[in-house]
Amino acid sequence: MSDLPFKGRVALVTGASRGIGRAVALGLAKAGAHVVITARSLSQLESLDDEIQAAGGAATLLHLDLKKGDRIDQLGPTLFQRWEKLDILIANAGILGPLSPLGHITEDGFLTTIDVNLNANWRLIRTLDPLLKRSDAGRAVFVTSGAAKGTYAYWGPYAASKAGLEALVKSWAAELENTNVRANLINPGATRTQMRAKAFPGENSATLPAPEDLVPLFLELASPLCQRNGDVVKFRDWRPEDEPSSTRSPAEVAGTAEL
Ligand SMILES: NC(=O)c1ccc[n+]([C@@H]2O[C@H](COP(=O)([O-])OP(=O)(O)OC[C@H]3O[C@@H](n4cnc5c(N)ncnc54)[C@H](OP(=O)(O)O)[C@@H]3O)[C@@H](O)[C@H]2O)c1
Repeated sequence: MSDLPFKGRVALVTGASRGIGRAVALGLAKAGAHVVITARSLSQLESLDDEIQAAGGAATLLHLDLKKGDRIDQLGPTLFQRWEKLDILIANAGILGPLSPLGHITEDGFLTTIDVNLNANWRLIRTLDPLLKRSDAGRAVFVTSGAAKGTYAYWGPYAASKAGLEALVKSWAAELENTNVRANLINPGATRTQMRAKAFPGENSATLPAPEDLVPLFLELASPLCQRNGDVVKFRDWRPEDEPSSTRSPAEVAGTAEL
């Protein structure tokens, strides 16, 4: 695997047990990175680990509940002990939270959404910033949503969490300008995952892009060659440099509601 583009690089992926995070972790491992895969569902992480090993890659499994701030705070010291650096952070995990009128939402429903989608990412930044700066080209990619614009009724907690995330990551990117680290966000658009099915249960998911379709965009932003910083990249608008726009499938350009 010596000529793989991410050989020797260490990547941490949150929400790697299913959906977009799982596909990206597998993609990074196949491209040569050692992936630290995190989530709450250990059995799903083990199944991903099997797939990574079968593909010739390597992973470290880490049970991590992003509601537990003290566990996130331990990540930096733990990774430092083993690798002394982190090359790639894929901060992907997220929850939909309650879809209800704001006046009907419980305190727990609101605060948990903000905790997982926003506060956990601030804690990841705080504990991993020094490790990313020890890499020759630290790259951080966060996952936002079109809902961050706040234009949908009943999506308040999720929309607020993603709007906050965008502001947080752009602020950090501005701090990083004169370092080797770059931080950006991806807006995946409608993608065939459990979260999407929960939000739009009547939808024909076969019309949606699969999580695997997003992997090349994540790899581009995770690459040492990426010089973007503080950008929100919409998957729908993105084209790999060597691909003409006409090669995208109809599902990839479908005008489905954003999540
Ligand atoms: N799918 C879409 O259409 C879409 C569109 C726009 C943005 N997004 C964003 O894309 C990201 C990935 O979403 P997805 O569609 O792949 O969702 P998904 O299939 O529901 O996966 C969510 C992931 O987050 C993890 N997670 C949830 N709560 C957690 C917690 N408390 N601690 C640790 N991990 C937790 C889950 O793992 P465990 O349950 O095992 O912990 C799972 O791996 C999210 O940030 C989402 O907001 C998705």
